[in-house]
Amino acid sequence: MENNTGVLVLGHGSSLPFNKEVVNAVANMIGKCNGNAVVKTAFLNIDTPTLHEGLKSFEGTGVNRIVALPCFLAPGVHTTKDIPRVLGIKEGDNRTMIQLGGTDVELVYAEPLGADPCIAGIACRRIGDALNDQTSMPNWAQLWEQGMRESSWMDDIAQQANSVNKYWDDQSPRYNRGHDAYRSPVVDRLKKYIDTTTTLLDIGAGTGALTIPLAKKVKNVVSIEPSAGMLDYLKNTALKENLENIEFINNTWEDARISGQYDIVVCSHALYFITDMKKSLQRMIDATGKHLFLMIGIHESNDRYGDIWKIIKGTPYKPGPDYINIYNLLREMDLYPEVKIITTTMECSNLDEAVKLATSHFDESDILAKKDAIRSYISQYVQQESDGMFRWKDSFKSALIVVNKNV
Ligand SMILES: C[S@@+](CC[C@H](N)C(=O)[O-])C[C@H]1O[C@@H](n2cnc3c(N)ncnc32)[C@H](O)[C@@H]1O
Repeated sequence: MENNTGVLVLGHGSSLPFNKEVVNAVANMIGKCNGNAVVKTAFLNIDTPTLHEGLKSFEGTGVNRIVALPCFLAPGVHTTKDIPRVLGIKEGDNRTMIQLGGTDVELVYAEPLGADPCIAGIACRRIGDALNDQTSMPNWAQLWEQGMRESSWMDDIAQQANSVNKYWDDQSPRYNRGHDAYRSPVVDRLKKYIDTTTTLLDIGAGTGALTIPLAKKVKNVVSIEPSAGMLDYLKNTALKENLENIEFINNTWEDARISGQYDIVVCSHALYFITDMKKSLQRMIDATGKHLFLMIGIHESNDRYGDIWKIIKGTPYKPGPDYINIYNLLREMDLYPEVKIITTTMECSNLDEAVKLATSHFDESDILAKKDAIRSYISQYVQQESDGMFRWKDSFKSALIVVNKNV
């Protein structure tokens, strides 16, 4: 969340102390998840601050946008009518401009919590608590391991190669050519956390998507990469770019020896290959001095890939677990991660290139056999724009999970 954005957590209010206590505690946790965000509370009935007082409490904080979040489970009369009326938001609308201490401030009204896997996770915990049965709590580490094992992707890796390392060795020439659109948004996000004194650890560094641009900005980088093929490309690029501040460790995260802590630890799209996730995340947290950044996919971004999978393989696509699993596991470990969604639009100079990009993980002979069907499917989702470039109509999303140490 941007520094200039505040959050007003709204509760119903009650003659008993519990509603206020819960809303205050949730607001506190939201603050922890969002670094420096100014988070305040307000209540519709009985308790104070009132909604007006809550808004006024942002005066002098420097925020120019406030997100009013109803800490209610489902929409109802209070969230759709009463609260918007007091806040001056038209029914059915979700934003307005207000004046605070002579400054224009945008007021954005968020949806209530709603039906969400995280809420279901909490519900399962409460059921377990009521039954005094810890086994009814979702075991996020186990769900991760099982989800990964049963995913189509892992099936494919097993079919294409006899080990994860061999798979990435084989993929390394293609991977090194790809300039994935997510790299620059991630480097941009990291910029404010690093300077020339920063020490950085890149886990599953691959061909250097992040190691290379970040090594130019920090004191030094240690890159852990188990695939010798991927690591060779990384070493060559470092050599070509005269980067002498990178140490390379050719090993998995689970087996790599590191010493001490690094200001920043990054693991971008490499969690998928780790099975004992709780232990590995704990190791990452222990290795982090200031901030841990985990870049990981989001299920909803898999739709196109899943459809192409079906065309090529003739079987339904089973996605592995995604960022929500890691988020919940970190929460279970008593951490309050921030989640930032990185949205990128894939672009290509022609349709053939778009087909190549969308099918890059698949075996070439499989692609050839289904060439026409793939092309016709992709042409529905890619459009040529006025600058001549072909862009995907739907954007590609990844989650950047940030764990801030000592917050
Ligand atoms: C999808 S690539 C991501 C590379 C790079 N971080 C990026 O964002 O472009 C995944 C990388 O994770 C590496 N990897 C696989 N298993 C790993 C493990 N157990 N520990 C660390 N890295 C691993 C692979 O060799 C591969 O280079």
